[in-house]
Amino acid sequence: MTSTLLRGRTLSFLRWPETVDDHSAWRYEDDGGLLLRDGRIVAADAYADVEKKADEGVKKIDHRPHLLLPGFIDAHAHFPQMQVIASYGAELLDWLNTYTFPEETKFQNAQHGRRIARLFLDEMVHHGTTTVAAYCSVHKESAEAFFAESHDRNMLNIAGKVMMDRNAPEGVLDTAQSAYDDSKTLIKEWHGKGRQHYAITPRFAITSSPEQLEMAGALCREYPDLHMQTHLSENHAEIAFTLQLYPQARDYTDVYERYGLLGRKSLFGHCIHLSEREADALSDTGSVAVFCPTSNLFLGSGLFDYQRYRRREKPLRIATATDIGGGTNYSMLRTMDEGYKVIALNGEKLNPFQSFWQLTRGNAEALSIVEKIGTLDQGSDADIVVLDARATPAMRLRMETADTLAEELFLLQTLGDDRAVREVYVAGRAMKTDMAV
Ligand code: GUN
Ligand code: FE
Repeated sequence: MTSTLLRGRTLSFLRWPETVDDHSAWRYEDDGGLLLRDGRIVAADAYADVEKKADEGVKKIDHRPHLLLPGFIDAHAHFPQMQVIASYGAELLDWLNTYTFPEETKFQNAQHGRRIARLFLDEMVHHGTTTVAAYCSVHKESAEAFFAESHDRNMLNIAGKVMMDRNAPEGVLDTAQSAYDDSKTLIKEWHGKGRQHYAITPRFAITSSPEQLEMAGALCREYPDLHMQTHLSENHAEIAFTLQLYPQARDYTDVYERYGLLGRKSLFGHCIHLSEREADALSDTGSVAVFCPTSNLFLGSGLFDYQRYRRREKPLRIATATDIGGGTNYSMLRTMDEGYKVIALNGEKLNPFQSFWQLTRGNAEALSIVEKIGTLDQGSDADIVVLDARATPAMRLRMETADTLAEELFLLQTLGDDRAVREVYVAGRAMKTDMAV
């Protein structure tokens, strides 16, 4: 049985760091070791101690002076939108109608889906993201393509075919019944196969009839362990149209509430313009608000009030995400940099330890998979990113004046992107070296 011993500066979080001096919130080893076997981390400690536990034939890889962190987690992205990124000049509803829905019709073609799924997951890994909660297109084939590529890479990913039966072109519509049937077929085929997780995925209230949201709720009741993902309160025109389509609802959140779609495994993309009642309803049910800063800025949707949501009497569980292709960058470092600026525009700050907590353990907690990923703890899956804070001349120069780990992390977030990602391990396998992503 082959095992691998990684050496480097290891950083993993135990809980939310209140300040940059809250040292007990994380574990940092200046000369750390990680012993990987069968896709898991079997020992994590000071290198000298871990080395003693390694067997004779262990493969040693020295990543010093780089940082080893848990692989990044992207809690919301649309894999069929790789060729939608950089579509000019529209807010959400026009952007969907003009660019996104026509693009997603191409995923009727299974070969196209397979090609884009492959390129998407390569891009994710290349940027240090080892887990993504992905929306596929309406076509069952697109989800099959995504899961097949994900399974081939042995990645832990969460995905689902979108359910959408109205207010979109014919080529991206299903029906309430076919969405239920296709989702069920996909769940049976893919959920729990290797590291694959299925998410019930009604796109959003505008593109689902009441009958279809009923079906989505039925699936959630039948499969209570599954994730549910959708969009909520992203844009004012979207909110107004939703309330017109669902006149009985108290507010946008109530639309989903009525169909039983709130809960601890429910991921709501955006949540920018929530009322206090809506935020309370999300909090009471343990639902997750997913912050997508590059998308919210690009589409002019608004400023997610991260610190207010976190600090309110009934706090929200929060995840962060790229929202490709409303989002503009595959990198979670770029995403947190833009997130920092959105939070700053709300008069608040997110310190670098909080930011890297969010990218790793925080997103794993929000996705309820922290027992598997998001830390470098012993027993955790060996999904690891290797970061180089001197990856470019400008970073190298700035690092000359960075004295602390907090400064180094902030520099990585502010100047870093895929160039700072030296290596990525997925279930113990070196992806940049072995798969050349
Ligand atoms: N709301 C419904 N569908 C989408 C989508 O594809 N992207 C974004 N940003 N919002 C949506
Ligand atoms: Fe989205």
